[in-house]
Amino acid sequence: MRLTSGLVRLPPMPITRTDLDRILAEHPDDDAIRVFVETGTFHGDTTAVADAYFDIVHTIELSPVLYQDAQRRLPTVLHHQGDSQEILPVLAQEIDEPAVFFLDANWWHRPGTPARPAFPNIAGEGCNPLEADLRTVASRKGGDVVILYGTENMGCVSERGRDWRGITHQFLEEIFPRRRSILYCSPFVAIYT
Ligand SMILES: C[S@@+](CC[C@H](N)C(=O)[O-])C[C@H]1O[C@@H](n2cnc3c(N)ncnc32)[C@H](O)[C@@H]1O
Repeated sequence: MRLTSGLVRLPPMPITRTDLDRILAEHPDDDAIRVFVETGTFHGDTTAVADAYFDIVHTIELSPVLYQDAQRRLPTVLHHQGDSQEILPVLAQEIDEPAVFFLDANWWHRPGTPARPAFPNIAGEGCNPLEADLRTVASRKGGDVVILYGTENMGCVSERGRDWRGITHQFLEEIFPRRRSILYCSPFVAIYT
């Protein structure tokens, strides 16, 4: 597991195999998980790690350009273009087995600030889909592993504009009342539902 220090990290960092091993080792039946769902593909770096690790990988990206690039890079992955708040509920209903949900479509700048150069195709106004995405996976019957990246953002707006004001320890405990456990392993939070 990577260590965080007082220094600002350079996001986004992909999940590594070691991270997945560590997080899944805490799952009571980790061998049974075949499916990985990612929100926020970006350049597909985590998607590529997941593609080599899981049998079925879904990834959702809002930006059509990033979606097309990732599709070319990773043809065996199931790519979805659009808002995770619309696509994730469909997948969450269709996938009828335990899955890993990596909810990472949350790098979103504050309304009113200029679009970041990395996302010239995204107009700018928008809200953080993370809260809605968490509620979507919380509505599943359980047995999943839900991973968030960015523990340092919890409860605040980061310098890079990640708005996690609504994402607090209390919020996670409230929306996952039947969870088995929550693992805080900076920079990740893993919820075992
Ligand atoms: C932090 S990056 C993802 C990094 C990637 N998961 C990785 O590990 O390398 C966030 C991505 O989410 C995308 N995004 C932002 N809002 C979204 C939304 N509502 N639905 C889908 N993707 C979204 C952004 O375009 C960006 O590519």
